[in-house]
Amino acid sequence: MNYQYTKQFRQALVQWFLEEQRDLPWRRTKEPYQIWVSEVMLQQTRVDTVIPYYNRFIEKYPTAESLAYSPEEELLKMWEGLGYYSRVRNLQAGVREVVEVYGGKVPDNRVDISKLKGVGPYTAGAILSIAYGKPEHAVDGNVMRVLSRVLNIDADIALPKTKKVFEQAVTELIDHENASAFNQGLMELGALICTPTSPKCLLCPVRDYCTAFHEGDPSSLPVKTKKLKTKNIEYDVYIIRDQQGRFLMEKRPDAGLLANMWQFIMIERQADENSLTKVQKQYNVTLEHNSKETILSFSHVFSHLKWHIDSYLVDAVETNANPENTAYFTKEQIANLPMPVPMLKIWGKINA
Ligand code: ADE
Repeated sequence: MNYQYTKQFRQALVQWFLEEQRDLPWRRTKEPYQIWVSEVMLQQTRVDTVIPYYNRFIEKYPTAESLAYSPEEELLKMWEGLGYYSRVRNLQAGVREVVEVYGGKVPDNRVDISKLKGVGPYTAGAILSIAYGKPEHAVDGNVMRVLSRVLNIDADIALPKTKKVFEQAVTELIDHENASAFNQGLMELGALICTPTSPKCLLCPVRDYCTAFHEGDPSSLPVKTKKLKTKNIEYDVYIIRDQQGRFLMEKRPDAGLLANMWQFIMIERQADENSLTKVQKQYNVTLEHNSKETILSFSHVFSHLKWHIDSYLVDAVETNANPENTAYFTKEQIANLPMPVPMLKIWGKINA
């Protein structure tokens, strides 16, 4: 884009954002810590889903200091349902560094902010531009889509190296006087107008500057190669109730998918074995033979994985020493445990 065009593009984008932006809770603050929280939540989750989580989170942890040392189980409970739970652990680790190394003030330059745990190039640029007004790039999937069309770029956005192309483009295009509105304008345009399918080009404030609109085909951009197929796993889930009406739960390992969250007993279904027999051995429990009640069958998709679940309620006649990371809990205790969404779904059905 030549210089005149660039200036007009900037102006059109910034003005549109200032007039048309949605009223979102994180747009009512300039606190870097609060912007940080919002950007971490928004990374893999839709705006509508994030809003109530953000409001609750900020009410409970309004400052870096209030988040830095809160117990992990409480944090996971606050994040329950948002997915990608390592985000909140990394956020807390980064926030703790801010408290301990920077006296509670989030660094205002890319070098220092990028050293914080969980702060990648996108989050760094988002905080620097939105909270501090610095002309730094903040390129996510939305921004790549918008700019692939405006600049008619056909590089494959599934390749990590492609992001650099767009970061360079933002660095050249960004409005130094309105960095916050410029970056958020690109995000907002991607969310409201320049959507993945059926972009609303007739309503677009920067259509005059859009190369794909004039010379190409906006709907065919960006180019993105297919990701690998998801893996399917079948599980039998047993909700084991002891004679005092408590339920057996197991804490997941402290790394990997859904780390440290609590679940009912879950056995991968195998063609050649009875999972209930396996449960009794593995969890030191004798189950009442006729008590197995079917609860729910459903599937749940994670980013790269699909669980196919059959779930059952069973009564225990005899319980012995609990294996490591397992315990019997009352309903009231269970309400405070962080649980994966599929478990919440089963639990909701049982208590319906
Ligand atoms: N997605 C990522 N960051 C966002 C923001 N600040 N506002 C709206 N959507 C976003």
